[in-house]
Amino acid sequence: MKKITKAVIPAAGLGTRFLPATKALPKEMLPIVDTPNIQYIVEEAVRAGIKDILIIISGTKEAIEDYFDVNAELEMRLKAGKKDKETEMIRAIADMANIVYVRQKEPKGLGHAILSARPFIGDEPFAVLLGDDLITYDKKPAIGELMETYEKTGGTVLGCKRVPKELLHKYGVVKPIGDYSSSTFQICDMVEKPKDPSLAPSDVAAQGRYVLPGEIFDILANTQPGVGGEIQLTDAIKTSMEKIPCYAQIFTGDRYDIGDKFGYIKSIIDFSLKRDDLKDQVKAYIKELAAKE
Ligand code: UTP
Repeated sequence: MKKITKAVIPAAGLGTRFLPATKALPKEMLPIVDTPNIQYIVEEAVRAGIKDILIIISGTKEAIEDYFDVNAELEMRLKAGKKDKETEMIRAIADMANIVYVRQKEPKGLGHAILSARPFIGDEPFAVLLGDDLITYDKKPAIGELMETYEKTGGTVLGCKRVPKELLHKYGVVKPIGDYSSSTFQICDMVEKPKDPSLAPSDVAAQGRYVLPGEIFDILANTQPGVGGEIQLTDAIKTSMEKIPCYAQIFTGDRYDIGDKFGYIKSIIDFSLKRDDLKDQVKAYIKELAAKE
């Protein structure tokens, strides 16, 4: 079985739900307090043992390239001001991983974005971490949990969560084969954004992490535009299930959709409540607000 050594982070979406900020700022650069979301995503891949990372960007996303590059002038100024801790911190960001970039020329969907990773990946299996899905972890990051399932099964693996019925319409919902009470199980179909909960084949939805087989590229190249005129990754994964077994892996961490306004607000509150330098102030402020209600 081929080992997973590369990750792809698609970050070329339009971010329409976060306009006007995303007119000039990639949503992946939105800071969770002081750290852009994409840094957490890159760190997750690195923690899972992946250092070769391709970020798929689009026209307005140079800020991402700049962020992971060395900023010699800033380093020099920080050093001159004897700010050693800060100098180290910003250098560590540039040294974190081997990051390369490719441009998706038109936002033709997640499937189309992944197809542009082909020259970087070749025909190996690879990890995918969506740039706007933030997932917390203690020891093992979500993508590491998926990679373990890949190592056991050799199949495609989708990072999933159980979702309340009324929210299933936002996600790709998986159809399990048989019992699906455990955290890993095989699936045979997916329904993208079911309009009504009765059309959803389970309460388990795919959420931003994948281990995909190299064969997905040929399938994507032959996938016609689906919902919204976009080339949908879900459609290609469904086709791949005819030949390659596909598993749902319910990951342990909490997931935040930072491309959604409320998801973003929740991430900032939860992250600041975990930080020693902020939690007391934030807690006191929340209590103050609640008392005013
Ligand atoms: P989303 O649908 O969440 O991103 O895509 P979006 O299109 O930017 O969001 P809205 O609806 O306009 O606000 C999921 C992931 O796929 C990437 C996005 O960057 C995000 O990480 N994506 C989507 C691409 O890279 N290219 C695309 O053409 C579409």
